[in-house]
Amino acid sequence: MHRDLLNPDALELQPVLEPPITGLLIADARLIDLYPDFFGAVKIPVKALLAGEDQKNLKNLQQLYHFFCEHSLSRDEIVHVYGGGTISDLAAYAVSTYKRGCRLHLYPSTLLGMVDAAIGGKTGLNHENLKNLIGSFYPAERIVIHPGFLSSLPWEELRQGMAEMLKAVMLFPCLPLPDFGGKILPNEEDILGHALYKLSLCQSDPYDRSDRMLLNFGHSFGHALESFSNFNISHGDAIALGMNMACDFSLQMELVNQEQYDSRKELLSRYPYPPPVLDYLATINPDDLLPLMYQDKKNNRKLRLVLPVGKDIKLVEMSMNGSA
Ligand SMILES: NC(=O)c1ccc[n+]([C@@H]2O[C@H](COP(=O)([O-])OP(=O)(O)OC[C@H]3O[C@@H](n4cnc5c(N)ncnc54)[C@H](O)[C@@H]3O)[C@@H](O)[C@H]2O)c1
Repeated sequence: MHRDLLNPDALELQPVLEPPITGLLIADARLIDLYPDFFGAVKIPVKALLAGEDQKNLKNLQQLYHFFCEHSLSRDEIVHVYGGGTISDLAAYAVSTYKRGCRLHLYPSTLLGMVDAAIGGKTGLNHENLKNLIGSFYPAERIVIHPGFLSSLPWEELRQGMAEMLKAVMLFPCLPLPDFGGKILPNEEDILGHALYKLSLCQSDPYDRSDRMLLNFGHSFGHALESFSNFNISHGDAIALGMNMACDFSLQMELVNQEQYDSRKELLSRYPYPPPVLDYLATINPDDLLPLMYQDKKNNRKLRLVLPVGKDIKLVEMSMNGSA
């Protein structure tokens, strides 16, 4: 792992994007369609990929290795990756394993990619129906945030990134809260602030063994909700709901008092939950989610939850009978 790459110098804001002139380029096919002037001016070899959870697979990984071989990619050449988290997770894994690792520059094109997926060096693809079962830690040597990409991002996708920003604010109240009300794009400084915060947390715990695990707040409940709904609930929406469930659970377990609970729920109530998702949620018995939570690969047999405890949010290990 290039631990030294997890530093603020790796991150850069580029209001005007110039096409790269050396190396290879991988991009979300939708982005290529949306930005013909930019991608039309690219003179290096381009590989277009479809975005989506179902595309993070071995078949596409093999296609990327083939693309690298076809163009005799050497270890000192740069692979430039343009796209959201599904593209960067897959492409970064390919780059991290080809010839034991080539150079990687990421250009996240979704809000979730900018504040989360492109930051911190986790790569991954799905296998045997399990999310990110195969992966590596391989931070990009450069992450370029071009907020202009957000102008074409649908509200549904923007909201998923905002959910991760809300989670970060729950953990680190000094961070700016996005404006959920008017469907307004977060400003560049706020995006950069969130990205830098994640980068610094990852730098202190590059392999996700201590503090970085806090970033899983809302994720155990959220992942279970996503699976239970057959992925009809989007990831960010599920995380926002998962944070609510974590707060409810903490109150039930008397890990927080009413005042600590109410203030967190007030913040969470600002998220624009889509009404159909809330209707669906009302039909679920939270006990049905438990088996799915035990399957979570981060749980290591015990149930590990990130929960509000008093004024803090902490990693709590639970035994099968629910005691902390
Ligand atoms: N590696 C990490 O640390 C990490 C962290 C969080 C999430 N992730 C992963 O990220 C993935 C989700 O990422 P995502 O939400 O960016 O999904 P995504 O890459 O599937 O993009 C979402 C949708 O937006 C489209 N899109 C991308 N950029 C666009 C643009 N500028 N304008 C219009 N449409 C655009 C895509 O084509 C796609 O349809 C998941 O697989 C998750 O596991 C990884």
